[in-house]
Amino acid sequence: MVVKTITFEMRVFLLLVLVSTAVADLVIDLPDGRIRGHEIRTESSSMYAFQGIPFGRPPVGKLRFQAPLPSEPWEGVLEANRTAASCIVVMHFDGDPEIDEQNEDCLYLNVYTPARQITEKLPVLFWIYGGGFIGGCASYDYYGPDDLVNEDVIIVTVNYRLGFYGFLSTEDKAILGNAGLKDQLLALKWAQKNIEFFGGDPEKITIFGESAGGISVGAHVVNSKSKGLFRAAICQSGCSLTTVLQSNARQNVYDLAKIFDPTISEKNTTTEIRDFLQSLPSDVLAQAGTELGLLLGAVVEVEDEDAFITKPAVPLLESGNFNQVPLIIGTVSEESIGFLPTISDIEEAARSYDADVTALLPVDLVPLEGANLTEAGIVIKDAYTDRDRTFSEDLSRTLKYFSDNIFGRPTLKQVKIQSNFTPVYLYQFSFAGTKSQNRTVIEGAGKVGHADELAYLFKISTFPLATEADFLTRKRMVKMWTNFAKTLNPTPDASDPILNVTWPSVSSIDIQYLDIDDTLQVKPNGKVKQMEMWDYVYETYGKRPFYYF
Ligand SMILES: *[C@@H]1O[C@H](CO)[C@@H](O)[C@H](O)[C@H]1NC(C)=O
Ligand SMILES: *[C@@H]1O[C@H](CO)[C@@H](O)[C@H](O)[C@H]1NC(C)=O
Ligand SMILES: *[C@@H]1O[C@H](CO)[C@@H](O)[C@H](O)[C@H]1NC(C)=O
Ligand SMILES: *[C@@H]1O[C@H](CO)[C@@H](O)[C@H](O)[C@H]1NC(C)=O
Ligand SMILES: *[C@@H]1O[C@H](CO)[C@@H](O)[C@H](O)[C@H]1NC(C)=O
Repeated sequence: MVVKTITFEMRVFLLLVLVSTAVADLVIDLPDGRIRGHEIRTESSSMYAFQGIPFGRPPVGKLRFQAPLPSEPWEGVLEANRTAASCIVVMHFDGDPEIDEQNEDCLYLNVYTPARQITEKLPVLFWIYGGGFIGGCASYDYYGPDDLVNEDVIIVTVNYRLGFYGFLSTEDKAILGNAGLKDQLLALKWAQKNIEFFGGDPEKITIFGESAGGISVGAHVVNSKSKGLFRAAICQSGCSLTTVLQSNARQNVYDLAKIFDPTISEKNTTTEIRDFLQSLPSDVLAQAGTELGLLLGAVVEVEDEDAFITKPAVPLLESGNFNQVPLIIGTVSEESIGFLPTISDIEEAARSYDADVTALLPVDLVPLEGANLTEAGIVIKDAYTDRDRTFSEDLSRTLKYFSDNIFGRPTLKQVKIQSNFTPVYLYQFSFAGTKSQNRTVIEGAGKVGHADELAYLFKISTFPLATEADFLTRKRMVKMWTNFAKTLNPTPDASDPILNVTWPSVSSIDIQYLDIDDTLQVKPNGKVKQMEMWDYVYETYGKRPFYYF
């Protein structure tokens, strides 16, 4: 007995010595090799950063457009002291930080830990960026996690392929599609295997993401391949039911190939086209630039061991056949003002709705044969205009319709279904701080646009916070998100003076939400009427199964 105890204590002692020397020069031994991190110090915090860690083989040559393979072991010490190149972006959004380097060789991730010796295993938050599947990157300038790490969690930020690099699909086995989502999946597997060497707890991984990142998180929630890789999820302005299906995926492949070889025709097989596109040098392929840039996201793949999305999301959720983890989900107060930035953009949208009610139909609604779509359009119009005014006469209604049509509807539908199975915490981010100062304000509509809440979780180099209220809001967001990662409850301590609220999970009959504004307040769902209308429209005019909603 005695010997055993001593041995155990000696082991602990040795382990501590090893950990502390390792930490002293920030060298960590991973299964694939050694890495050296560095310290990032700011006025308010200090953390260790391990940036640019490979998790997948460079997706070039025969791996271009295909599911990624795990990275290979390396010799010597990998200097993990700078963000790796971002994946090639098809679109750089106004106001986003500059991207120093873009490369097809981009399957790298970053790990940030508190700057101290870690003795207990820490919860992990795994970030998937947004950018419409055509832009975004995991760099520190975009997503500086300082405040999150300060709350004693580990943050992972991950690159994944974008645009045609990540989402080209021949709709057969030549190029299955969804490579970008498979990159995320591989990175999640990497985290399962490696995060303990950074002091993280592989049993306590929460995935979170915004916009296309929220849609990605939602995809991992409903896809069996991601089972067991995380224990909680946060969907910000994008979820399992947000429409992303790429239209004309196969045609897009041919269109891309024709840019480089005009003799290509529909007679060429998908295998020929794939081989041809894989043979192009990276810089030549990059010249396709934005020509096919706006092809969005996912495809439904043919059945294959490498396939990721093969089933419609609504029935997966409805049947409980998904990864049943607790969920935080929500939107900003007026998503649409990020997409219709000026008054004339809003007026133009209003005119198009007034001119043709079928423009109001959800893009993912597959009409039943013989469905009267004008009638369906009128149902939608009536719900948003109360029949008393046109969209042009009240632009706030245009904004509200647009917000619901892209993000509100799928969010509330997922809340309604998933809350039958798991805890679901619904929020609306309404705090109109410095980040929202330039938004178009329309009376009766919200003031916070798409992606504005990000500046209140991360340090974004182009959007520094300015006011006391800004900083308080970030404190609150960071606290709730990290509480959730630690305890699966965003407000476990009712006496916390910064939060001073208990955010209840939703029940399917009572969809209340936390309004994150100057104060934090629990409010009843104000969109019951609209949700009933959307259900009616899908059920009456749409063909099952519903892939999205
Ligand atoms: C990273 O570390 C290497 C080796 O110490 C050094 O040469 C390089 O300048 C460092 N890069 C940065 C960005 O600090
Ligand atoms: C396309 O098909 C034509 C006719 O069979 C063939 O000559 C050509 O090499 C094919 N192109 C590619 C890129 O495979
Ligand atoms: C479709 O509905 C509209 C509006 O109710 C109606 O005016 C129109 O006659 C209907 N069309 C058909 C083919 O039934
Ligand atoms: C708002 O506009 C001003 C003037 O163009 C600009 O300097 C500032 O960065 C903008 N703020 C945000 C949050 O976009
Ligand atoms: C906490 O909230 C309650 C009402 O919900 C309010 O009366 C009280 O002043 C708040 N306390 C603090 C410290 O903000």
